[in-house]
Amino acid sequence: MAILVTGGAGYIGIHTVVELTEAGFNVVVIDNLFNGSVLALKRAEKITGKAIGFVEGDIRDRALLDKVFAEHDIDTVIHFAGLKAVGESFNRPLAYYENNVCGTIVLCQAMEAASVRRLIFSSSATVYGSESPVPYVETTPRGTTSNPYGSSKAMVEKLLEDLVVADKRWSVALLRYFNPIGAHPSGLIGEDPQGIPNNLIPFIAQVAVGRQDALTIFGNDYPTKDGTCERDYLHVVDLAIGHLKALKAVSEPGVSIFNLGAGQSVSVLEMVKSFTRVTGVKISYCFGARRAGDLPVFWADATKAMKELGWVAEKTLDDMMADTWRWQASNPHGYEVRDEKVQ
Ligand code: NAD
Ligand code: WQD
Repeated sequence: MAILVTGGAGYIGIHTVVELTEAGFNVVVIDNLFNGSVLALKRAEKITGKAIGFVEGDIRDRALLDKVFAEHDIDTVIHFAGLKAVGESFNRPLAYYENNVCGTIVLCQAMEAASVRRLIFSSSATVYGSESPVPYVETTPRGTTSNPYGSSKAMVEKLLEDLVVADKRWSVALLRYFNPIGAHPSGLIGEDPQGIPNNLIPFIAQVAVGRQDALTIFGNDYPTKDGTCERDYLHVVDLAIGHLKALKAVSEPGVSIFNLGAGQSVSVLEMVKSFTRVTGVKISYCFGARRAGDLPVFWADATKAMKELGWVAEKTLDDMMADTWRWQASNPHGYEVRDEKVQ
């Protein structure tokens, strides 16, 4: 039996592939390499000492998916593949809906044809929208999302719920991630954004290695502990382990929803200070205008994942900073040396 991991050459996918492989699961990755790297897969093989099956291709390619399901004995799909840049989604809404929504539909059609009906989906805290009370709890209905990326995630959640209603043989877990950061403790795999990073920790890490001059903190007049926004950051390895735990949830038919977060909020200023305290590297920063669409503060109530899956985010903020820095310092340009011999 094998697990098909869509988008498994990307940031969260590759960390999950490592944890699955180390736990003894056979994994087949499908990734179109739009934002993933073959070098990440080679390094995952180096970490685990095992070969990782890889198919280069797109989940919207139905014929390719049929071939993958025919050639491998797949019983579960973990579905990471998609586009994820919130800002870009305003400029390219059709691309976001096409990839994230249509891609999931084609994937589910191929699964149905292959009689594979266990699916773990990468959703996001963004589906709670802007009005939900904090901390976010899974019983709170999806809110109004403020961007096409978030809307595409909410649409996929809804279509998967409808699928389960229509055919009780399906088992679907919707995992709502909060803010994953950090890297594998080996320093061999991590987050490698293309262009100027949109997200906080990749930006801080690039300031630290001199690729960016200074961090602009988007707003210091929020009604929060120090005026900067607060988020629920969790280590990407903890998040990866959450997917292994969620295999239990898809062993029974139906749909289940889990928040995967640390259950506490940390401000942007606290993140900057923590990075410097842990790494010894000073980060130049200035305060700028608020970024459109940012909420002041949100964090997860992750009690359900603890009670039903036995999952908790175990790694500390110091672990997240140390591992981010190990990855960035030893790979200042990420996976830039793509497709060369394993570094
Ligand atoms: P990522 O961009 O690093 O990984 C996504 C991978 O999917 C990439 O390797 C990309 O090449 C691949 N891909 C994209 N479209 C594809 C397609 N049509 N066919 C095949 N492969 C395709 O992103 P990530 O940070 O690892 O996120 C993984 C998932 O988790 C995404 O669905 C994202 O929306 C979701 N998510 C991420 C975060 C976060 O903060 N990183 C938070 C919440 C949810
Ligand atoms: C964190 C905080 C910024 C950059 C996003 C998506 C969300 C999910 C996770 C996919 C905010 C501040 C940031 C910078 C800053 N992704 N910041 N200067 O916005 O909480 O969540 O990633 O599902 O959907 O929206 O994460 O890392 O972008 O920002 O001050 O240069 O850091 O304002 O308060 P965010 P982030």
